[in-house]
Amino acid sequence: MKIGNARVISFINLKGGVGKTTSAVNVAATLAHSFYVQQGNTKKRAKVLLIDLDPQSNASQTLLKSKDYDPSKTIVNLFRHELNRDDSEESFDLSKILCEAPIDGLNLDLIPSGLDLFDIQDELVKYQRYYLSATDILFNALNKLRESKRAYTHIIIDCPPSLGLVTLNGLSLSNYYIVPTFLDAYSHWGLDKIIERVETLKRCKASCEAEIIGILYSKIDRKSTRQNNMWDDKFLEWEQQNQHRFRKLAKSGGKRLVFDTKISKADVIRKAEADHSPLVAYSPADGNDKRDKEKYQEEWVALTREILNRIAILKIS
Ligand SMILES: Nc1ncnc2c1ncn2[C@@H]1O[C@H](COP(=O)(O)OP(=O)(O)O)[C@@H](O)[C@H]1O
Ligand SMILES: [Mg+2]
Repeated sequence: MKIGNARVISFINLKGGVGKTTSAVNVAATLAHSFYVQQGNTKKRAKVLLIDLDPQSNASQTLLKSKDYDPSKTIVNLFRHELNRDDSEESFDLSKILCEAPIDGLNLDLIPSGLDLFDIQDELVKYQRYYLSATDILFNALNKLRESKRAYTHIIIDCPPSLGLVTLNGLSLSNYYIVPTFLDAYSHWGLDKIIERVETLKRCKASCEAEIIGILYSKIDRKSTRQNNMWDDKFLEWEQQNQHRFRKLAKSGGKRLVFDTKISKADVIRKAEADHSPLVAYSPADGNDKRDKEKYQEEWVALTREILNRIAILKIS
């Protein structure tokens, strides 16, 4: 699906606690802070929209100070409006819940989530409308937002750890998806299931083009080198058996589906989160934290560059 020229990337895994939100927030912020896109002859700063689709709302909490988070203005309003309106009524205007540039100096907007999204998931199952499918609600609303001249270069979606109808709204409009994961003995389990379910979605829905562009080791303990290598071998084995699932990337010379950049486990990432900030915008007072911020932000920059390179490869092939 197409929303102007925006590239849409979802972060998804069926497991919780694997770094989906941390990755979505920090990649979105890094893109918005440090990257440009070529448009015709000019280079333009990236303009990013982060959509929080997880009822747990952790991405929203990271980007908004508590006083700025309004639980009555979230993505829940969109789905509730759609569930209740009749066809003669206007569809929901996302600008009513859009938080523009919540972090000073970052070209990043946010559509926040709310806990009531848990209940909406169940109600959506009963959604029946002549003109619109329950998985296209978000796409329609985003297209309307685009008409109001908010041209995003990238839309990043933080998905909940499920493949319910809310997640399908995100995947349906995604061009790409990334699976953040732990690097441990069993994390490669379940990967096939995610890919298989997205393939099913694509078979059933011709307009969906979501393609996997990488597996991200998201919380690496750098001290456990031997264990890390051993478990990485498990992923390698999985990749070798599943190359048909990421044929285009494999064909264009991508040796691994796992990103070269691995994100270290680092306290400073959690400290930034607790301060309602992505790492790139965090300004700690402590000298060690300052050094750590610079050091670990380099990983997010390298990862973001790698993501953009993979997107470019897929576009050409
Ligand atoms: N690289 C990291 N270093 C340290 N802590 C991390 C890192 N990535 C995530 N965390 C922490 O791990 C927990 C789970 O991460 P989160 O991104 O919320 O996972 P998910 O969205 O998959 O549930 C959070 O408390 C987060 O602060
Ligand atoms: Mg999360």
